[in-house]
Amino acid sequence: MKKLAAGNWKMNGTKASLAEVAALLSAHGQPACEMLLCPPATLIAAMAEAAQGTALKVGAQDCHPKPQGAHTGDISAAILKDAGASHVILGHSERRTDHGETDDLVRAKAEAVVDAGLVAIVCIGETEAERDAGKTLAVIGTQLDGSIPMGATAANLVVAYEPVWAIGTGRTPTLSEIAEVHSFLRGRLRGLIGDEAETVRILYGGSVKPSNAVEIFAVPHVDGALVGGASLKAVDFGAIVEALSAA
Ligand code: 13P
Repeated sequence: MKKLAAGNWKMNGTKASLAEVAALLSAHGQPACEMLLCPPATLIAAMAEAAQGTALKVGAQDCHPKPQGAHTGDISAAILKDAGASHVILGHSERRTDHGETDDLVRAKAEAVVDAGLVAIVCIGETEAERDAGKTLAVIGTQLDGSIPMGATAANLVVAYEPVWAIGTGRTPTLSEIAEVHSFLRGRLRGLIGDEAETVRILYGGSVKPSNAVEIFAVPHVDGALVGGASLKAVDFGAIVEALSAA
């Protein structure tokens, strides 16, 4: 399976930020891993144009569960595909918190993404209080069961484990904590979708940076990363792409 380095720009980036994409492609045009950036929706079309004919794929950060209709301000998977997106991040903890997204809604969105022929990147992760209470595996197991789409395959689903307390904080779980969760998720996926689970990419996300990427990518069942802050700069994201390519 090809590993995946995915960048989530969150609510950052203007047209001027496309200079980072050009810099990334000139220095890391042929990585051994898959490379994806998910900018704000306003930049998807321009980034997809800049990425045409290169190894870079472009994704979105959310979508509506319906294909079209009277939903002011929302964007459907079909519209994102038309703009040039190949992947959609769903159920990020910031959306679960800021917009009250439930597992049911995340699953409906993921099914819309799969129906549109795109790849769903489904995010799950425990809060610090849940980890401290020893509930990490119970919480992420429930989220996984409830959030992945019907008919999930290794081609249409990526799972991203992002402990909420590690996002944007500079803190990460220990390598053995990451290993425990990723191996648990592989087993749980096996129970849900059988052998197909072996090649579903399970990404780690939360304060991934050039200085910790090599050790995190050596952890079993870590098949890539979902990177926030460090994906905004070509030099940092490029270093992470190289670390994953060498893993
Ligand atoms: P940071 O890499 O900034 O911690 O963000 C992780 C994340 O939320 C990616 O989706």
